[in-house]
Amino acid sequence: KKVVLAYSGGLDTSVAIKWLQEKYDSEVITLTVDIGQGEEIEPIVEKARNVGAIKAIALDLRREFLTDYAFKALRANCTYEYNYHLSAALSRPLIASYLVKLAKENNASAVSHGCTAKGNDQVRFDLTIKTLKEDLAIWAPMREWVMTREEEIDYAQRNNIPVPVGKKSPFSIDLNLWGRSIEAGPIEDIEKEPPEEAFQLVVSPEKAPDRPEYVEIEFENNVPVGLNSNRMNPEDLVERLNKIAGSHGVGRSDMVENRLVGIKTREVYEAPAATVLVKAHRDLESLVLPRDLFHFKSLIDEKYSCLIYDGLWFSPLKKALDSFIDSFSERVTGKVKIKLFKGNLTVVGRSSPFSMYQHDLATYGQNDSFLHNSAVGFIDIFSLPNRVYHRVGHGK
Ligand code: ARG
Ligand code: SIN
Repeated sequence: KKVVLAYSGGLDTSVAIKWLQEKYDSEVITLTVDIGQGEEIEPIVEKARNVGAIKAIALDLRREFLTDYAFKALRANCTYEYNYHLSAALSRPLIASYLVKLAKENNASAVSHGCTAKGNDQVRFDLTIKTLKEDLAIWAPMREWVMTREEEIDYAQRNNIPVPVGKKSPFSIDLNLWGRSIEAGPIEDIEKEPPEEAFQLVVSPEKAPDRPEYVEIEFENNVPVGLNSNRMNPEDLVERLNKIAGSHGVGRSDMVENRLVGIKTREVYEAPAATVLVKAHRDLESLVLPRDLFHFKSLIDEKYSCLIYDGLWFSPLKKALDSFIDSFSERVTGKVKIKLFKGNLTVVGRSSPFSMYQHDLATYGQNDSFLHNSAVGFIDIFSLPNRVYHRVGHGK
């Protein structure tokens, strides 16, 4: 019997290797992906082998994560409940789809992940796995075997699994190129400001430079392709933008969030690049799309965000919403200039070959081409149904 385990190199998934061998009498293949969590992958692979994996696979999925997941979410200006740019949520279907792929390639009958029973992540993994290959067994040690921290360390020590030394970070962290999620420990006190050490990507606005910095984002066919007049590949662009925006205190958020499993939790996020890109993207859309389409699309955006949160990436709804967005994507081309200053971001300029801003229509100055005489007739007819309704209701 073989199982493919999503392996981060942490204590939970290391313990999981042994547990899968013992409980399911199974050979364990681990999968570790690089999606920009800023960790060396090679030592993680080595650790997996030392703990007992028969095969340890490492994949650099940074490009695929951005191009096929994060940038698709960007097209829909995705945020969940206004504050969360869905960094962790977007990574789950990607990792899960690779678990399925590797299970097929290695003749494994099961896959495994380290998610708990209380989170969204288990839903996202399981939904993707079940959709892509219904007959795979899913083993989730942290869900099936609820251990206290002490029991887990004890189990690790008995099984020669290295336990991280020193004081354990009080936080639970998830990190990739699209953002960093911080929960647990002191964050659970929802009345208190999170301690400064919770943050890593975004400086506090108080410590940000006293001078603003401008960034210009270039979009082509609804995809960001350039930063400050330099064409860049997705990884470089996002990495660079994370640094710049983070250094100006842009991209922190703090929310009590509604989990799919019914719990409200306090979560703190850092998503500097995603925050700037969504802001720039929406501004460009408002320039190139007509009013009715721009307004209607906000409903699509909301639905898209929610389906990502709920783990429904591989769904007919997601595919259909993509087609909707595809239909005007070539128009979402142009440049947006943003000013970053002490935690704030403000759009200060934009341009597009498809700009619907027509100076001769908008101007209050010379060369006005708007038909002023048509305005009164337009309002007369536009107000007709309301006037009739009011009249027949005798003023009520
Ligand atoms: N609450 C976020 C979500 O459901 C982040 C989950 C992972 N967060 C973490 N701190 N481990 O997508
Ligand atoms: C987990 O329980 O695996 C992390 C938190 C979440 O999924 O929301």
